Amino acid sequence: GELAGEPRMYTEILEQPSSVERTLRGRLDERFGTAHLGGLNLEPRELRAIRRVKILGCGSAYYVGQMGASLVEELARIPADAEAASEFRYRNPIIEPDTLYVAVSQSGETIDTLLAVEEIKRKGGRVIGLVNVVGSAIARACDGGIYLHAGPEIAVASTKALTTMYVGFALLALQLGRVRDLSIADGKRLIAGLQRLPAQIEEILKDEDRLEEVAGALAQAESMFFIGRVRGFPVAREGAQKLKEISYRHAEAYQTSELKHGPLALISPEVPTVAIVPDDELTDRNVAALHEISARRGPLVVVTHPEVDLGDLEAARVDVPKNEVELDPILLTIPLQLIAFHAAKVLGHDVDKPRNLAKSVTVE
Ligand code: BG6
Repeated sequence: GELAGEPRMYTEILEQPSSVERTLRGRLDERFGTAHLGGLNLEPRELRAIRRVKILGCGSAYYVGQMGASLVEELARIPADAEAASEFRYRNPIIEPDTLYVAVSQSGETIDTLLAVEEIKRKGGRVIGLVNVVGSAIARACDGGIYLHAGPEIAVASTKALTTMYVGFALLALQLGRVRDLSIADGKRLIAGLQRLPAQIEEILKDEDRLEEVAGALAQAESMFFIGRVRGFPVAREGAQKLKEISYRHAEAYQTSELKHGPLALISPEVPTVAIVPDDELTDRNVAALHEISARRGPLVVVTHPEVDLGDLEAARVDVPKNEVELDPILLTIPLQLIAFHAAKVLGHDVDKPRNLAKSVTVE
């Protein structure tokens, strides 16, 4: 086809409207404003008994786990957090019977994530998987789970797996929320938001020329920051990760709120910042922080919504369409994939085979 000869990462980025659609297919209940995840193997009574959600994954699966934790806390009001699966079993973790553990993995073969699952099971905990590869080791080791149906992901740098994981978390949070205090109106609002995602992703992908231009400028820098706060912070982490993995430029993610407590010392005309600034309750604070960067002549790329007024700020602006505030992170992530891709390409790197990295790490 038309994309023959293009890097695999690129075709996987472009597939996201349809992979997201596949993750959603058959799982939305518009009548009751909820999701039906058939593979969880949990009765409504058991879903209601969950007091905490602990998410485990590596690399991008860990960062999307942080996005998932926000979704669970916001929609279901259950305390949730994400941890690097590679660290988990080494700190003698406390396994609680009323915690739902969620193992996140595209391949389903990452040894660190698999061993975390086995540690939890050995201590009597309950684990579900958020996995792409059907019948993989992690899928088999879990008590139940959600298959992503993203289709095969071959490129080392994860793109469509991450966005479908995000959708998987939104479905889980919706179902957990609707057996608790999330209203039917809110459930329906989120369903409508989820249904808008494929077309909105398509819209972002059309902005590729603009993203290529931004990437070309960033690729010249030896080192840069990616910043965001609350929902935007894991987006920044994923953006920095993607850029590092394939362009080999140094990129560090930071909470925008923590800038003044350290890294502001490094801001200069040579060190650009990519800022995630959604239209939400923190917009004004985010924009104020950008002025601090600008005052130190740090070049800025701002990934934001059309509704956000940046005033007289000097910045390269990238707009993404607005969705429900809880679902914004997935859309804010997409431009960062294309920025990393084009930065690597302009630097002449083999995007699909980054040095020193493997698609799935199956030995400790
Ligand atoms: C890393 C890959 O080694 O494993 C990352 O380079 C990936 O891209 C991570 O996110 C986790 O892989 P998986 O298959 O468990 O999602």
